Amino acid sequence: MQERLLELKQEALDQVEASRDLKTLNDIRVSFLGKKGPITEVLKGMGKLPAEERPIVGEVANKVREAISNAIEGKQATLEKAEVEKKLASQKIDVTLPGRPVRKGSKHPLTAIIQEIEDLFIGMGYTIAEGPEVEKDYYNFEALNLPKGHPARDMQDSFYITEETLLRTQTSPMQVRTMEKHEGRGPIKIICPGKVYRRDNDDATHSHQFTQIEGLVVDENIRMSDLKGTLKVFAQKLFGEDREIRLRPSFFPFTEPSVEMDISCKICNGKGCNVCKGTGWIEILGAGMVHPNVLEMAGFDSKKYTGFAFGMGPERIAMLKYGIEDIRNFYINDRRFIEQFRRA
Ligand code: PHE
Repeated sequence: MQERLLELKQEALDQVEASRDLKTLNDIRVSFLGKKGPITEVLKGMGKLPAEERPIVGEVANKVREAISNAIEGKQATLEKAEVEKKLASQKIDVTLPGRPVRKGSKHPLTAIIQEIEDLFIGMGYTIAEGPEVEKDYYNFEALNLPKGHPARDMQDSFYITEETLLRTQTSPMQVRTMEKHEGRGPIKIICPGKVYRRDNDDATHSHQFTQIEGLVVDENIRMSDLKGTLKVFAQKLFGEDREIRLRPSFFPFTEPSVEMDISCKICNGKGCNVCKGTGWIEILGAGMVHPNVLEMAGFDSKKYTGFAFGMGPERIAMLKYGIEDIRNFYINDRRFIEQFRRA
């Protein structure tokens, strides 16, 4: 019996020595040391041995198992190491290869113009307010002196979500939200940039979604001359000190009086060209003195407080400033378009 065990040991060690991969090695482990292996088989016959021989054979059997097991472990470590080395050799990384260049992004021209306008007004002491794009009919229309059924609602075709909610058609609802927050006490000096939505057919100058920047100033003794001075500083800082502005009478339900501001056309110097449609002037924004009804509805005493408001379209301003001919360029996100506005 002991001889048989030693034979098995030698057999196993030879096989381990000869094995070239981990799978073969594992097969050897199973076949020699497993429950159905020859060693277990030999040990089953131990019962027939005389009692004094059993511990001796048992000890030999354990030693044989241990020797085989050690040999397998040793070989396994060698094979694993060889495998890792092989992998490393085949997957060599060449750290001297030049890296792939990272493409630098550029600010979207619309973002750039909005930030430029924001900076301008921040410089004049304004703060920035932002509000919801999904707006209540109350804020978008009613509280702006546009009760239900008012014909001027048709000036802005709307996307309604429910009877009482819609995608805001203008940033003017932020006038009301801001005034409500101030609970009847001035001063207020804010601008509000944001997206607005109208049911328009998209073409070179119309888009169903575009941006606006709203301005609102409310305090005691705010006059039309304050509005005019503010707009003049704004226009000259943005378009150049040599620009003239003019205010034309207009109509908005939430301002009284209402005006539209034009700037002098720089392309033809006022002589008339196709950008200014022969007039020498280019329309830039709508504005006016906040209507007393709007002040009162938002909780302000219109005998004590007055204010002005204005609203402009950054797309239009960017188009004029950079000579962009189609508003849809802003939304297509063609890199070749956007990258032209990268600033030094
Ligand atoms: N909300 C107006 C529009 O979208 C613009 C405007 C704002 C006019 C504030 C007057 C005062 O046409």
